[in-house]
Amino acid sequence: MRVLGIETSCDETGVAVYDTKQGIIGQNIYSQVDLHAKYGGVVPELASRDHIQKTLPLIHQTIADSELKIEEIDGIAYTAGPGLTPALMVGATLGRALAWSLDVPAISVHHMEAHLLATLLAPSKPQLPFIALLVSGGHTMLVKVGDFGDYEILGESLDDAAGEAFDKTAKLLGLGYPGGPEIAQLAEKGTPDVFTFPRPMTDRPGLDFSFSGLKTAVQTAVNAVDELDVQTRADIALALEDAIVSTLFIKCRRALETHGIYQLVLAGGVAANQSLRERMIRLDATVHYPPISLCTDNGAMIAYAGHERLRRGLSTGLAVDCRARWSIEEIE
Ligand code: KG4
Ligand code: ZN
Repeated sequence: MRVLGIETSCDETGVAVYDTKQGIIGQNIYSQVDLHAKYGGVVPELASRDHIQKTLPLIHQTIADSELKIEEIDGIAYTAGPGLTPALMVGATLGRALAWSLDVPAISVHHMEAHLLATLLAPSKPQLPFIALLVSGGHTMLVKVGDFGDYEILGESLDDAAGEAFDKTAKLLGLGYPGGPEIAQLAEKGTPDVFTFPRPMTDRPGLDFSFSGLKTAVQTAVNAVDELDVQTRADIALALEDAIVSTLFIKCRRALETHGIYQLVLAGGVAANQSLRERMIRLDATVHYPPISLCTDNGAMIAYAGHERLRRGLSTGLAVDCRARWSIEEIE
């Protein structure tokens, strides 16, 4: 069985084919980073206009790379949400229409479930049950995974996501978008302990997060320095990265201990962060990640999640399924 996956929930157009026997046999990604860079964040209208331009050519290319004919595809999976509505609608409409024209099932995929399942594309796979920390630009949550489709949110961000904290503070420091990789790179030149930022909500019980205060803390630090030179920026970047990584570490440790589970999955764009990966080694648990290239948005995770749904007999009707907000606990 072969499933074509289409991802257009934000600023990446991702397309891939997953084959039951061979795994991912073709994948392509087009990033809109340059398009949005000058705005310091994603502009939904521009994102959707670009997805309209890029998605069909990318599907054509991916089918050719996979050495297939489009008639050899058994199902079309598309990201149905959560995400930016105008961006989601492009992949959803094209995917649903393509499935109809080929007379194959369409499968709507939950973007965060796809991030989570991408871990199963790595050589070392977690055993059930496990705890997952899903950290992206739009979401931060700890989820207890009992089985495929059995997801219990243990805690989530009450305001900004961890990736958003990276992106917003990068903007304050005059860095480019997306901020996570820029902050991480700059932090390598930072001196420890010149700045210290809070570890939000770690001093009270529970597994929720709150990252919006960090941008205020960074703004206060920026205002207090005489000159925001390269070294000062690097010192701030390191302190910010440390605050986010420490907060995520403390909450993961608490989740594992509370639930007596010692398997942890880290997924989503922020899981590409090297400091985060190095810190998690200190946990008394086996930690699993998707391959680095599959941490940020891509079509492969959608093709794989779609394949996993289709082989369980799950598919979507003719109506185009598209939801800006959609809890991972509410996946049918
Ligand atoms: O999962 P993703 O590609 O898109 C969403 O679903 O939101 O995550 C994007 C987020 C951005 O906020 C970006 O700054 C962050 O992931 N990110 C990183 C790194 N690479 C991407 N954050 C920290 N360190 C990184 N290396
Ligand atoms: Zn994502």
